[in-house]
Amino acid sequence: MTSYLEICKTEVNAYLSSMFWGGERAARLFEAMNYSLLTDGKRLRPALCMATAESFGVSRQETLPAAAAIEMIHCYSLIHDDLPCMDDDDLRRGKPTNHKVYGEAMALLAGDGLLTEAFARISRRMPSVTAERQLRMVQLLALRSGANGMVGGQAVDIEMTGRSGSLDDVHFIHLNKTARLIQASIEIGALFPELTEIQFRALSIYGEALGLAFQMIDDVLDVVGSREQLGKTPGKDEQENKLTFPRFIGVDATRERARATIERGETALREAGIARSPLFELQEQILERSH
Ligand code: IPE
Ligand code: IPE
Ligand code: MG
Ligand code: MG
Ligand code: MG
Repeated sequence: MTSYLEICKTEVNAYLSSMFWGGERAARLFEAMNYSLLTDGKRLRPALCMATAESFGVSRQETLPAAAAIEMIHCYSLIHDDLPCMDDDDLRRGKPTNHKVYGEAMALLAGDGLLTEAFARISRRMPSVTAERQLRMVQLLALRSGANGMVGGQAVDIEMTGRSGSLDDVHFIHLNKTARLIQASIEIGALFPELTEIQFRALSIYGEALGLAFQMIDDVLDVVGSREQLGKTPGKDEQENKLTFPRFIGVDATRERARATIERGETALREAGIARSPLFELQEQILERSH
């Protein structure tokens, strides 16, 4: 049976490859943007956005501009994360990293291009969403991916590289560099239907939990995964002396912590009366994934 994630992935990939990239003069910039955007990512963040909206009867099709915008932000963050001045990685999604192909300057600009275009995409007219709710989507995307979210987390991740820190520091880094954008994926999906503040709040708590667990498993896979499996270089965190959960509590306890974190999020969801949703399938995939 095709999994829900696979279904979303096919739809998102079709949407992303249909997006018009103009610019004859800056053709290489668009090529570099598409190089990272149209590769084989899991498309988990768009799937979370679609699953959330679909839990309340909204069609996946309607959510695609927002889901694509989130994936564009994610792809930009990967391009920048891999730069020599950041994690200095040469393999991503089974292919050479953007800067290895296009050079550092163009990779930097490809990231900038994706980041900016994401906001153009999410602010396109959405016939089924009120202007007020759409504005909230745009604000959330900015807030969760900006200095008080993803970018802030990346900054502390870089600052703490090679230094001794505490479990609190790892929590801060993971919450911001990764969990915030995953949380935004769910929050934005939750803005398509008309929900109560209680339902929205529960989904937001759940999204944060999923995001934290996702990065815990990313840390685990960096230790136990292979190059073929991950499509990126394993063992990088130890090599670069990154602050990760396995470094403090080991691989097994990190896995257990990821599951417990998600269970806490799930409780919030059930308390708000959200009991049937494709989110539950995605949640299992986050925990059991091998890449
Ligand atoms: C990798 O994200 C970067 C992190 C935030 C841990 P994913 O594991 O979702 O990467 P892709 O999109 O599938 O390549
Ligand atoms: C990346 O965290 C987070 C963002 C890209 C915002 P990592 O540095 O752990 O991601 P990978 O392992 O390189 O994919
Ligand atoms: Mg990093
Ligand atoms: Mg990295
Ligand atoms: Mg990692």
